[in-house]
Amino acid sequence: MNPNLIAEFEAILNGKYILTDEEAKAPYLTDWRKRYTGKALAVLLPANTSEVAAIVKVCAASNIAIIPQGGHTGFCGGATPDSSGKQIIINLKRMNQVRELDVANQTISLEAGCILQSIQEKAAEQGFLFPLSLGAEGSCMIGGNLATNAGGTNVLRYGNTRDLCLGLELVTAQGEIWNGMKGLRKDNTGYDLRDLFIGSEGTLGIITAAVMKLYPLPISQWTTLVATQDIGSTISLLNLFQKRATSLLTGFEMMTKESLALNQKHFPHMANPLKGNPPYTILIELSDHESEAHVKLLLETILEEAFDARLISDAVIASNLSQANSFWHMREHITLAQAEEGANLKHDITIPLSALDSFITETDRLIQTQYPGARIINFGHLGDGNLHYNIAPPPGIDFKAFNLVNEKPIHELVYKEVERCKGSISAEHGVGQLKLEGLRAHKGEVAHDLMKAIKKALDPQNILNPHKVISI
Ligand code: FAD
Ligand code: MLT
Ligand code: ZN
Repeated sequence: MNPNLIAEFEAILNGKYILTDEEAKAPYLTDWRKRYTGKALAVLLPANTSEVAAIVKVCAASNIAIIPQGGHTGFCGGATPDSSGKQIIINLKRMNQVRELDVANQTISLEAGCILQSIQEKAAEQGFLFPLSLGAEGSCMIGGNLATNAGGTNVLRYGNTRDLCLGLELVTAQGEIWNGMKGLRKDNTGYDLRDLFIGSEGTLGIITAAVMKLYPLPISQWTTLVATQDIGSTISLLNLFQKRATSLLTGFEMMTKESLALNQKHFPHMANPLKGNPPYTILIELSDHESEAHVKLLLETILEEAFDARLISDAVIASNLSQANSFWHMREHITLAQAEEGANLKHDITIPLSALDSFITETDRLIQTQYPGARIINFGHLGDGNLHYNIAPPPGIDFKAFNLVNEKPIHELVYKEVERCKGSISAEHGVGQLKLEGLRAHKGEVAHDLMKAIKKALDPQNILNPHKVISI
């Protein structure tokens, strides 16, 4: 270890932005789910891209591994260091400036440490929508969103974070700065570096800034909760909305009875307004730039059609913004209710819509047969085929004891079904350290070897987030 390392960092950053004290480092060392706790030599808080580049150069010269970190809300342990105490964390929270909001180009240029919610607010002040939206938006950062290619609740209409990004600025593993901050909607000049770095979870480069797309702010939005009895009719309902509402459909989220029971247990004020505790509660949102009346009429017409076709058995349309928000809170609180309940086994998966019925029916059956009484907490962004298919032990059984014995076989069971249905083992949360092991089998030899070759070419010293996503 280079004995002058900290002194070299001090030549770049004011000492108060180099955290070496155990107490000061602690908040950066444990992930949101409290699944991973690591150690770090230091946590560095740079204020600009040049400082990030200079730090990386020092680390490259001394072969020190770097863990890039944003809001540390990720679910796969990607931003948590290992237990060696030899890695450093670069947290980008001080890089939180909006560089430019280009009204004519409908883009916003931002530093990586901007908090997602603050970007949405900044855009709204100018009459724009920044559509990326997820439960952690009050603390996750755009650099982290890009690095994980985050999804969330608006993907159905606006795509993943990748689809919202036009340009990137980043620091390579050698400490070079790549400036790709162009707000172009067309640019076919060779390999797409931007898309290579998006979703690479800090293993190929450190994102320092980005140019993101903006959209006109919708003027009318209607939100409804509907009850369905089975997944087959839920998919038919989605198809009906896709056909009749087309691009006005901006949200289609699914919550099972068991997911909402967990909400009720931990947040009793969050009652489902639908009658009789239905098997599936679906949250649907339509947004438009025309009058409120136009969208409401469309929503009512589609719901009537759905009732006539027996796709739904009950519906409540939010009568005002506060009720619409309460519907969304109910959906978002499932994650928090699960965290309160215990460390459930998470599966963030995507399945083609045509195979969802078969996946859920068969996987539910297998879980119930092999793990009698286990609770299936299934909810998610159904419009994208993205399920959060999570498993908790039977009531009264200790989470730790249950997971110790059953974690591996349950993951294997669920992922085998995902493969049968030609789905993905990570829809939106990424790979990090959580899914590192399963990646080779899931991607196949050729894809896995190509990924390895890319990692080796861009980071031959393996100093950027080593043993996350891929091991070389
Ligand atoms: P971090 O957790 O800090 O980092 C995540 C990964 O990105 C790590 O590998 C890290 O090394 C890397 N990274 C971070 N910043 C950079 C950078 N500047 N350059 C390079 N690499 C970097 N995710 C969804 O997709 N959809 C959801 O609906 C959703 N809902 C959530 C709800 C809750 C309540 C919580 C706690 C999380 C949720 N997440 C969701 C997961 C998480 O919020 C996202 O993955 C988010 O994009 C992570 O951003 P972050 O800034 O916290 O990144
Ligand atoms: C969500 O959709 O609420 C998030 O991805 C969080 C989760 O999976 O719990
Ligand atoms: Zn999600």
